[in-house]
Amino acid sequence: MIKGVLRDVRFLFSARMVLTAWLPCLFITVLHYRTPSHHGWVHDVARRLYYLPILFAAFSGGVRGGISVSVFASLIYFPHAFTSLVSRDPGDALEKGLEILLYNIVAVVAGLLVDRERREREKQEQLARKLSDALEEQQRIESQLIRAGRLGALGEMTAGIAHEIKNPLHAMKGTAEILRDVVPADAPERRMLDLHIEEIDRLAQTAERFLTFARPTPADRRPLDLREVVGRVVSLVETQARKEGVSVASSPYVGEKPPVVAGDTDQLTQLLLNIAINGIQAMAPRGGGTLTFSLVRESLGEKGIFVVRVANSGPSIPADQLERIFDPFFTTKDGGTGLGLSIVSRIADQHDGVLSVRNLPNGKGVEFSLALPS
Ligand SMILES: Nc1ncnc2c1ncn2[C@@H]1O[C@H](COP(=O)(O)OP(=O)(O)OP(=O)(O)O)[C@@H](O)[C@H]1O
Ligand SMILES: [Mg+2]
Repeated sequence: MIKGVLRDVRFLFSARMVLTAWLPCLFITVLHYRTPSHHGWVHDVARRLYYLPILFAAFSGGVRGGISVSVFASLIYFPHAFTSLVSRDPGDALEKGLEILLYNIVAVVAGLLVDRERREREKQEQLARKLSDALEEQQRIESQLIRAGRLGALGEMTAGIAHEIKNPLHAMKGTAEILRDVVPADAPERRMLDLHIEEIDRLAQTAERFLTFARPTPADRRPLDLREVVGRVVSLVETQARKEGVSVASSPYVGEKPPVVAGDTDQLTQLLLNIAINGIQAMAPRGGGTLTFSLVRESLGEKGIFVVRVANSGPSIPADQLERIFDPFFTTKDGGTGLGLSIVSRIADQHDGVLSVRNLPNGKGVEFSLALPS
């Protein structure tokens, strides 16, 4: 209330009001008062000049602006119209009285029109904002659908291949282990067999990843606190981060509503872990950097959402790769499967979440955001 009054007062004495309304009003008054009584026509003109500052005030400040100046003009003109205190307007008394009444009527009518126009404009602007929010959301959903479509077809094929690879690998590992046991520990062949088994393990891990990608387990969604998931991921990546010279920071959640969503703790942990590990891997060649987690509540149109952001200070992702990084098998790493972000993207879908990525301004790094309905 007090704030509103202060704002009104500040507006009434803003530079614009002073220059277009108050000063002209005073100028007209001085001109009017100083005109000798026998110049009747000058008085007639001066009396009507008050309409200009009144209209300017109504255009800038609506009814309140207009009325302030019309009342001021009425009061300041009144002694000149009806008394001889300083000098007297020789015009007809009824005409002068009506003129004063008209100052105020004009101020109210012009002010009302301006206020109505302003309200309409605000409504239009609000509508435009809502429309652009809706459009943005639709575009995000569309790109997610495209990603999901690509995943479906590839999933079937990948599952078949991964499955066929896993079984023979299992047999190969078993036989290699038997052979290793019969080869003496100091024989040169022993080293080859160790290497053989290590590579089989690596292949088995890759096949496992392919299977996770192709045959995802359905999300078991229960109410969970996102702070706990973020905390868990932070402690999971800390050791690897330290090894690569990366410092991990997590800004505290400050919203009023607890960040509780319906989610699968293991899957959301896997999602954030994949993004965090990618971030660490991106910064490693530069000798380190910072990985930052943040969690906020935002409003999207009329809905409330929770947004988890994971940013790293590594190199930007080239523009032509930004959309492709979510494609299955897209990788720029030696030994990468390119499945990490596809899995991430599917987990986001299963949680009705929206996943996005952007390069931070001025090459400051890369930021992934996961928006989840609250
Ligand atoms: N934070 C990041 N900064 C820069 N590039 C990134 C980042 N995250 C992902 N990428 C790019 O996206 C590609 C795909 O990532 P994704 O996690 O799907 O597969 P990957 O990391 O290459 O392989 P894998 O996850 O199997 O180890 C990466 O190879 C890399 O080029
Ligand atoms: Mg990855």
